[in-house]
Amino acid sequence: MPDPRPAPIPASLDRRSVPHHVGVVMDGNGRWATRRGLARTEGHEAGEIALVDTAYGALAVGVKVLTVYAFSTENWRRPVDEVRYLMNFNRGLLERRQHELHAEGVRITFSGRRDWRVPRGVLSRMDDAAELTRHNRVMTLNIAFNYGGRAEIVDAVKRLVDDHVPASKVDEKSIRERLYHPELPDPDLVVRTSGEFRTSNFLLWEMAYSELVFTEVLWPDFRREDLYDAIEQFQRRERRFGGLDS
Ligand code: IPE
Ligand code: IPE
Ligand code: MG
Repeated sequence: MPDPRPAPIPASLDRRSVPHHVGVVMDGNGRWATRRGLARTEGHEAGEIALVDTAYGALAVGVKVLTVYAFSTENWRRPVDEVRYLMNFNRGLLERRQHELHAEGVRITFSGRRDWRVPRGVLSRMDDAAELTRHNRVMTLNIAFNYGGRAEIVDAVKRLVDDHVPASKVDEKSIRERLYHPELPDPDLVVRTSGEFRTSNFLLWEMAYSELVFTEVLWPDFRREDLYDAIEQFQRRERRFGGLDS
């Protein structure tokens, strides 16, 4: 399916300095629904359009990696019905969208704990989507699912131990190599929706020098124009990485 809603890219967005990797904390689904007198789950459902539109926008401007936070290791604390809904919803989303994304040249990958709590049926859909799209190179859509930044660091440390790495050899490189996707560059820009000013355990290691943009927009209302706006904010920032500007 071609882009269902092609939209112009603002002339003020500098196409030569588009962030390579954008992370998004897709938050506010429950509040979006509650404000409409709907069940929270209807907010999650409405978030699918936002995700697809944002992915098309990212493709249109040339973002190479889009990491979206879909389910956190802390989201298991929610009522069982909502958790079950989210598991089924995310499995369904992959079934509904993988071919369309594949046709656009999108590689689908996942960051998160595989061997903890995620139902087998969901894992196998994730594997199918990753397998189908593994050779695509236009953009990587990395879905943070059953993901926690602290869990990712813990998992990396476990692998260091399993690999018998001596303390003298433990450094940033040896840890980074054991994160879920060491081949992906750190996010340049991280956007959080719904007016919350926190990271909620997203990409802790990788976000060390990301530019952060917060918006009041609730995730189901987010569209590519909001992504473009965040990219323009990013372009006005001065990144120094601890050094001095030239
Ligand atoms: C984000 O929306 C989706 C997930 C965390 C799975 P929320 O469900 O957190 O919505 P709010 O923040 O309660 O409005
Ligand atoms: C972060 O949102 C996780 C996802 C968007 C998947 P939460 O809604 O879970 O975060 P808190 O509870 O507001 O910190
Ligand atoms: Mg939330």
